[in-house]
Amino acid sequence: MSIHKEVYKRITVKTLTDMKSKNEKISMLTAYDYTMAQIVDGSGIDVILVGDSASNVMAGHETTLPITLDQMIYHASSVIRGVNRSLVVVDLPFGTYQSDSKEALRSAIRIMKESGAHSVKLEGGKEIKDSIKRIINAGIPVMGHLGLTPQSIYKFGTYTVRAKEEAEAAKLIQDAKMLEKVGCFAIVLEKIPAKLAATISKTLSIPVIGIGAGSEVDGQVLVLHDMLGMTKQFNPRFLRRYLSLYDDMSKAISQYSKDVKTKNFPNKEEQY
Ligand code: KIV
Repeated sequence: MSIHKEVYKRITVKTLTDMKSKNEKISMLTAYDYTMAQIVDGSGIDVILVGDSASNVMAGHETTLPITLDQMIYHASSVIRGVNRSLVVVDLPFGTYQSDSKEALRSAIRIMKESGAHSVKLEGGKEIKDSIKRIINAGIPVMGHLGLTPQSIYKFGTYTVRAKEEAEAAKLIQDAKMLEKVGCFAIVLEKIPAKLAATISKTLSIPVIGIGAGSEVDGQVLVLHDMLGMTKQFNPRFLRRYLSLYDDMSKAISQYSKDVKTKNFPNKEEQY
């Protein structure tokens, strides 16, 4: 059976809705810099997320909480310079949208204006409804994020699967419906039972992108450095590693060091 795949020139929020209605899966990966963004975009990924996971992956923090708005704008503007086709979504970092909706809008506007990004992502449900509405009213597309929301890690206490209990699952469904109603163009569901994610995906007409949420959703997202095997410490069940770059890069770097020390590099052809 051949897989029909349309060739989209530039991905917009409308493209994603069209893809869902045609039952075409959406691919999404993170990127935080120009070089990686060029590779990801050129490889045909539909959506690039400039995630606040940059706080972990790029800066080495334990959580996503420390990354600042200025730092997210720096990452996002680097990514934008490497992108021709993908839709670029940028996380509003912790502390830049929770206190009131005006602050949320100011933060979203800074991201759009200073980085050239195409949309923003916010974590949470009804608690941030006013902020999401205000941002969308200003013409900025918003992606929601429910389930495991890493900016609330100190409230949860652990990174385990969310919404296993009925009450939390019911709230999650309510929040997902609300996000669609206020105008989010898509939502991310992180680390929730596959059955619950499938129900939400069927209930909503906007695309649902999963990470650790099973296969019955409209698309998948992973952290680029994790799926390339550049990180070693993070081993959740949902992560598929497509390469072992940590080991391959270590080998190459050790070989270079050896070549320098043994005067094997540079050779005659590698000099002027
Ligand atoms: O910051 C991030 O990388 C994310 C994904 C895990 C969805 O929010």
